[in-house]
Amino acid sequence: MDRTDKLKDRTYIITGATSGMGEATARLFAAQSAQLVLSGRSRERGEKLLEELKSSNPNIVIHYGDIAEEATNQRLVEIAMESFGRLDGFLCHAGILGLGAVTELSPHTWRKTLSTNLDAVFYLAHHALPVIQNGGTIILNASIAATKSFPNHAAYCTSKAGLVALGRQMALDYSPRVRVNVICPGPVDTPLIWSSAEAFPDPERAVADAAENTLLKRLGKPEDVANLCLFLSTAESAWITGAVVTIDGGITVK
Ligand SMILES: NC(=O)c1ccc[n+]([C@@H]2O[C@H](COP(=O)([O-])OP(=O)(O)OC[C@H]3O[C@@H](n4cnc5c(N)ncnc54)[C@H](OP(=O)(O)O)[C@@H]3O)[C@@H](O)[C@H]2O)c1
Repeated sequence: MDRTDKLKDRTYIITGATSGMGEATARLFAAQSAQLVLSGRSRERGEKLLEELKSSNPNIVIHYGDIAEEATNQRLVEIAMESFGRLDGFLCHAGILGLGAVTELSPHTWRKTLSTNLDAVFYLAHHALPVIQNGGTIILNASIAATKSFPNHAAYCTSKAGLVALGRQMALDYSPRVRVNVICPGPVDTPLIWSSAEAFPDPERAVADAAENTLLKRLGKPEDVANLCLFLSTAESAWITGAVVTIDGGITVK
C-alpha cells in the first residue's frame, strides 16, 4: 500500500474497526498517517490489528466497548482529544443484522439493532460534533438495505434508512464546517454477509447469487469501501456533502 500521508496530523474515530469494512478503513487510514481512535468489542481481533498497525504508525489507540451505549461514544471522543488534541471526523462502520420478520423479532432484538446501528451514531455525533475541526468529515455506513428490502431484515433495513436521514440532516445542520456523507454498500465479502445469508433458504447460493447479480460479477471487497471512505475524507471530495453514495458493483441497477 502506498504511504502518501494524505491524512497526516488528522484524527478520526473509526467504529467497527475490528472486522470487515471498518478494519479495512483502519488499515488504509493508518497507511495514510492518520491519528486513529479505533472502536470494537473483540479484544482478540483488536489487539492483533493494533499490533500490526502500530508497527508502521504509532498514533493509533483502540477502545473496547458496546457502541450502543452513550458512554462508549463519549469516551471515544474524550480519547481522541486526550491522545491527539484534535478530532477531524469519524466513520461509523459498526453494525449488526438483528434478523427476523416483524412477527418473529423480539422487541429486545429490535431495540438492540436500532441502538447499535442508529442510536450509536447519534451518540457519537452528539459528542463529537462540538469538537470536530473546521473542514471535518463524517461518514455513515448505511447499506443498499436503506431503500431495498431483504427477507427477514426488518430491523436492519429500518436502521439503515434512519442512517440516510440522519446523515443528510447532519450535513444540513453542520455545513459548511463539517461534511457528512452516507455510503450504501451492496454485498461485501465480510463476516456480516454470511450471517445475512442465513435469512435465505440456501445461504451459500444466496451469496453466490449476490455476486452474480452485480454488474461487475463479484462481491465487494472491504478495501473497495475503504477507498471510498478515504476519498470522502480528503479534499478530493471537497464539494461533496449530504450525498448518499452507492457502492454495490451495480447490483441495484437491475
Ligand atoms: N457486508 C455487507 O455486505 C454489508 C453491506 C452493506 C452495509 N454493510 C454495513 O457495513 C458495516 C460494516 O459491516 P461489515 O460487513 O464490515 O461487518 P462485520 O465484519 O460483521 O463488522 C462489524 C463491526 O461492528 C462491530 N460491532 C457490532 N456491534 C457492536 C457493538 N454493539 N459495539 C461495538 N462494536 C460493534 C464489530 O465489532 P466486534 O466484532 O469487535 O464486536 C465489528 O467490528 C455495517 O454497518 C453493515 O451494516 C455491510
